[in-house]
Amino acid sequence: MSRQSTAEEIVAVCSRLYDRGLIAGQDGNVSVRLPSGHILVTPTGLSKVDVTPETIVELTPSGKQVTGGRGASSEVGMHLRIYRERPDVRAIVHAHPPVATAFGVVGRDFMDAVLPEVIFHLGRVPLVPFALPGTPALGDAMAPYLADHDAFLLASHGATTVGPTLQLAHQRMESLEHAARILHAAMQLGPVNRIRAEDVEALRRAREAARAGWDADAARTEVDEEDE
Ligand code: 13P
Repeated sequence: MSRQSTAEEIVAVCSRLYDRGLIAGQDGNVSVRLPSGHILVTPTGLSKVDVTPETIVELTPSGKQVTGGRGASSEVGMHLRIYRERPDVRAIVHAHPPVATAFGVVGRDFMDAVLPEVIFHLGRVPLVPFALPGTPALGDAMAPYLADHDAFLLASHGATTVGPTLQLAHQRMESLEHAARILHAAMQLGPVNRIRAEDVEALRRAREAARAGWDADAARTEVDEEDE
């Protein structure tokens, strides 16, 4: 994948987030770490459905902007912090999915083992204490959770998902909102049942086994990018 096709992939993910109602107005931001270490990120202040490949911003690993035009997302500090602390992460999606965010507004996390897909695709989803969006405090608030999680509910704000590919980071955001809707419906119907401990263990082992495959896929994509 070239820089151009990566920028196009970011634009496609922005459209999909918008089409599913996971962002509205100027919400959300998406980034990818290129094999060079530079980061492509959505610009600030646009409705993400209006982002084009030409408006995508390129940054050095330390956050210096190397493209002209609009500035980078106001959440770039969070993205850079995640890339610094997670060498395995190559893509980040931040959105405001309504039902998942509502869980974050009332202070509920997704740590309970209730849905197999959540355990397999997302793992445990911690609730990161509130920190002002767009400030270094947000990265600081996420820091204790970064090493061990791939999806984060941000209290009274939204959600962030990461992955070895943009495809996986985006799927995790969709899955998080879908699971939130299911859980919300289940909670109206009656007490929520937890999955048996041995089944949870089996799902966690399956997730660890699948992780090696995800990383291998991502590494193959990077080799392709370097070949171009
Ligand atoms: P940006 O347009 O600056 O990326 O901000 C959107 C957002 O969701 C802030 O949390």
